[in-house]
Amino acid sequence: MLCGVWKYYLCGMMSEQFFLPKYEPKVPSSQTVIWSAPSNIALVKYWGKKPVQLPANASVSFTLSNCKTITEVTFFAKKLKDDKHSFDVLVDDVSNESFRPKIESFFTKAQEYLPFLSSGHFQIRTTNTFPHSSGIASSASGMAALALCLMSIEKSLDPTMSEDFFLAKASFLARLGSGSACRSIKGSMVAWGSHPAVSNSSDLFGVPLRQPWHEFFLNYQDTILIVEEGQKQVSSTAGHDLMHNHPFAQQRFEQAETNLSDLITAMTQGDLDEFIGIVESEALTLHAMMMTSNPAYVLMQPATLSIITAVWNFRKSTQIPICFTLDAGANVHLLYPKSVKSEVLSFIEQELVAYCQNGRYICDELGEGSIQLNVYPNS
Ligand code: PMV
Repeated sequence: MLCGVWKYYLCGMMSEQFFLPKYEPKVPSSQTVIWSAPSNIALVKYWGKKPVQLPANASVSFTLSNCKTITEVTFFAKKLKDDKHSFDVLVDDVSNESFRPKIESFFTKAQEYLPFLSSGHFQIRTTNTFPHSSGIASSASGMAALALCLMSIEKSLDPTMSEDFFLAKASFLARLGSGSACRSIKGSMVAWGSHPAVSNSSDLFGVPLRQPWHEFFLNYQDTILIVEEGQKQVSSTAGHDLMHNHPFAQQRFEQAETNLSDLITAMTQGDLDEFIGIVESEALTLHAMMMTSNPAYVLMQPATLSIITAVWNFRKSTQIPICFTLDAGANVHLLYPKSVKSEVLSFIEQELVAYCQNGRYICDELGEGSIQLNVYPNS
């Protein structure tokens, strides 16, 4: 039986309107909510978008387990009504003004879907389990955790809200803050963007992929080699913009659509060679798009290329099914089944650590998605 969100989707009624509040405008009571949301790494990349924050092609990602953001939001009802957004942001318990513009822009986009945003003051405390300097983007996990906190507050106004709707709207809102954040809500593999191979898929929010994956993929590992700490030189927002009028944009969007179908087939059948081929091609194509943009730019570093070459040589000589992927930066994600973990960790220690800034790498693996917490860390 079709229920909740999917009933509307399949009837062709799914649009932004679906996420407008159905209840009379109300001010929530003062309350505190806490969510932990993971980072994710795309296998088929989202690169290029349409207004408002809609993907030019469908993408799919692995949800991580250890790299996550924990956010606590305390809502205080305003005494005097006005239409302004009022919030404080504490990052690692220190007031941080640099997050303010992103959150203000997110609140502005989310206002019509969450009218209570202008009816209170929000105290936002947030912390990442990975270091800020690591070069790992926190926008996906950060926006997902914030969206989930706001949804918990909305649920206090509409207690009959279904679990499906809660998760779909959290993903929808997270997307408004940062596109890839919509894939950090629920499930170990999440697709975002309407695609014929993914039932119930939508450009508006991410959906968990529940195929019966081959056992190879059930406990996949992701070891992130930190080639470059700190902020990248060109933001994702600027990079997405350069896909407008890009000479290869159309072919790239079509390639991603095909890669997504082929990846699902490979993962269902346990075809590791095909999986590796698609994942590495997606990573290199993402960077090829940057290198052929106008203006062109390069985010890979010499160490990135040295690692890629070493991975290819190691795979060829050992037949161990390890592959790499890249985000919009110089760091390298190594993906491999858990059964070869000890061999891969020895390889990293012996050959790859030398290319990592300060010898740093982070061991992560497939996770299940966000969880609500009762206590903020160290409080
Ligand atoms: O979510 P954004 O706007 O930071 O863009 C993310 C783009 C990539 O990380 C490069 C690819 C992806 O699909 O996550």
